[in-house]
Amino acid sequence: MPIFALEKCLSLRQSMKKLFSLILGFAFCFLSYAAGEESRGGNAPGELRSGSTPDCILPQVAQWTPANGGSFVLSNGAVYRLQAKGVSDDQVKAFKAYIESSSLALREAGKEAASAVKTQAGKEAASAVKIQVGPKLLKDTREGAYKMTVDRKGVSIQANGVAGAFYAVQSLMQLQAADEEGRIAACRIEDAPRYAYRGLMFDVSRHFHSKDFILKQIDLMAQLKMNRLHLHLTDNEGWRIALDCAPEMVKKGAFGDSWWFNHVLNGTPMTLVEEPEGYEPGTVYDDGKVYGGYYTKDQIREIIAYAADRHIEVIPEIEIPGHNIALLRVHPEFFCENRKYNIDNVVCPGREEVFAFFENVLKEVMELFPSRYVHIGGDEANKSNWGVCPLCQKRIADEHLKDVYELQSYCIRRVEKMVNACGKQIIGWDEILQGGLSDNATVMSWRGTEGGVQAIRMNHDVIMTPSNYYYLDFGQDAPYKEPLAFNTYLPLETVYSYEPEEDIIAACGADYDPSIMKHLLGLQGNLWGECIVSDSHFEYMLYPRAFAIAENAWSPKGSKNYPAFREKTLAFIERVRKQGYHTFDLASEVGHRPAAATPIVNLALGAKTTWRNGGKEETADMLVDGYLGDWVLWKSPQWKECVKRELVLDIDLGESKDLHYIGAEFVHFPARRCQLPNDLQVLISEDGINYTPVPVVIPELSKEDRHFSILTLGATVNAKARYVRLEGNKEKKKTWGYIGEIIIN
Ligand code: ACM
Ligand code: ZN
Repeated sequence: MPIFALEKCLSLRQSMKKLFSLILGFAFCFLSYAAGEESRGGNAPGELRSGSTPDCILPQVAQWTPANGGSFVLSNGAVYRLQAKGVSDDQVKAFKAYIESSSLALREAGKEAASAVKTQAGKEAASAVKIQVGPKLLKDTREGAYKMTVDRKGVSIQANGVAGAFYAVQSLMQLQAADEEGRIAACRIEDAPRYAYRGLMFDVSRHFHSKDFILKQIDLMAQLKMNRLHLHLTDNEGWRIALDCAPEMVKKGAFGDSWWFNHVLNGTPMTLVEEPEGYEPGTVYDDGKVYGGYYTKDQIREIIAYAADRHIEVIPEIEIPGHNIALLRVHPEFFCENRKYNIDNVVCPGREEVFAFFENVLKEVMELFPSRYVHIGGDEANKSNWGVCPLCQKRIADEHLKDVYELQSYCIRRVEKMVNACGKQIIGWDEILQGGLSDNATVMSWRGTEGGVQAIRMNHDVIMTPSNYYYLDFGQDAPYKEPLAFNTYLPLETVYSYEPEEDIIAACGADYDPSIMKHLLGLQGNLWGECIVSDSHFEYMLYPRAFAIAENAWSPKGSKNYPAFREKTLAFIERVRKQGYHTFDLASEVGHRPAAATPIVNLALGAKTTWRNGGKEETADMLVDGYLGDWVLWKSPQWKECVKRELVLDIDLGESKDLHYIGAEFVHFPARRCQLPNDLQVLISEDGINYTPVPVVIPELSKEDRHFSILTLGATVNAKARYVRLEGNKEKKKTWGYIGEIIIN
């Protein structure tokens, strides 16, 4: 018979009374025990002891105040007591199992060893950590809210639901770990999440990751108080879920003739191959010739249950209608008819059998995943073949649609009906706005924030995951020292700086009505897997940037403090490394491109500059502002994108000057097909009419190295001139790239 039985059935008042009398009645007994055995926690009355304070907690708590009363030493094996009311036995059981197996490793009072707690015969001892869960214990009704008080006698936690108590335990573990001796300074915490949706997306299609690896990431998500895991289960490179309705999709669609990454490097298409003999589902298969893997339904159930025990909901994504090479290789009958364009990843929405296939898939997926949402993709569907396919054209005519964009919308609406019929809701990438948003859709805004802002203004729910802040496949430090990334530079500080409401408020202008913010469900970081070839690489890209997303999604508006966050993050990195996670080494961060921090000596500084490329003519002052571009390319004001046409840059120095060298910075980033110009020449002139050309040698670069690099291309001139011109891509116009600062000296 346990000394402290779970008191689920006691009324709140009864239990409070009982708790109070226990504390009074047995404080002496407990404290003398605690003083005698340091490992049990507690310190003598009046003794002033320092310890960790809640500003070490990540994500930052909403409110905390220091309190009198010294500190409390919390050590593993300390006793906890849980009083829970109005929650299911299963939830309580899972919570207790978590506490007992977590790094905090508390022991339920009286459960394991009555002798561990000195009691008077037949009476109960006080517990070091008291946790109360019950409806209406807190005024704050947000899911996950909790209160915690620490004094020299112990820790007291209250929450309306188990999620709140679970998050309090996360905070407690961090407080305990922040002090070598587990001392926690007396304090009061009131904490609750800013957003209900605090998510990460894992792309397990491009490169597969084992079930056990996903469970490991769920553990760290829980520490960060994140609560949504979006699994991108299908894409061009592999179908990762074994379904009874489509067994062929994993037998023939989950393995390739090597890593997708090798094909990027070699520029060759991937061939799908059949499941190799002896493959063990849920693991990554890679014998050097065949690469791939998938999860069985039981393994998916295990992931869902493991996540649920940690208050994380798993949301599946099945991509429709694009990103479907794997599907179309297995089911070529789903292609458009009379395909004119070489597009191999979009299904034909003119075919009924395509909808029948997805209906079966979605039904089975919805039975498997208890989540309210199913993500149905909807992004980057190239519609060119739809414009020429007789079946698509017939669909457009029959359904009185205007164009292929409305056909996309028709497709998403049909899928939404299937999902709604099962009592669930769709989430789609922001392209689902094209051709009209379906009725109940939630939009995931990834191409910046514009799609999300548009959807919110239409009273649709939105999850913000803008790629320029939250795409964790971008590099996080100086590209020369980083593994190959799918885009350039997105350091921790930029991720942290994202403030989701700003764009919405700005877009609404005078029409802004604060009540629309209820549609902003929350935030999500996306880890796309094209370049992520191993588990350690995956974790490296994820951490610590996921910490920043967790704090953005949890901590109150207006509480950002990057230096403080960075300090906490450095400590948290140490902690999670000890837990076996492979993180980016923030302590050795190079940061923004050092050469871009100080102005260069440049005769072109402030010169009048005109840029022509791809039919546009405009000024390009940023190319002569005296600063080299940073590592950031995309949406950067320091680099100019050169489309695949001739580019001409005219610079008027204002007067004739002695010139020795003329050049410019260019980007080479083969992983994104971003190249140096095919040809380049410098021209100089005294009158702006007669130009003397000086050819520029374009270096031959290694085809093996796909990393981002910046090169200066130019020529020695040693002449006098007022007008300078750079011309590129005149011979062959297929190159796409970026040009940065013009350098003239
Ligand atoms: C996406 O990054 N295509 C959603
Ligand atoms: Zn078609």
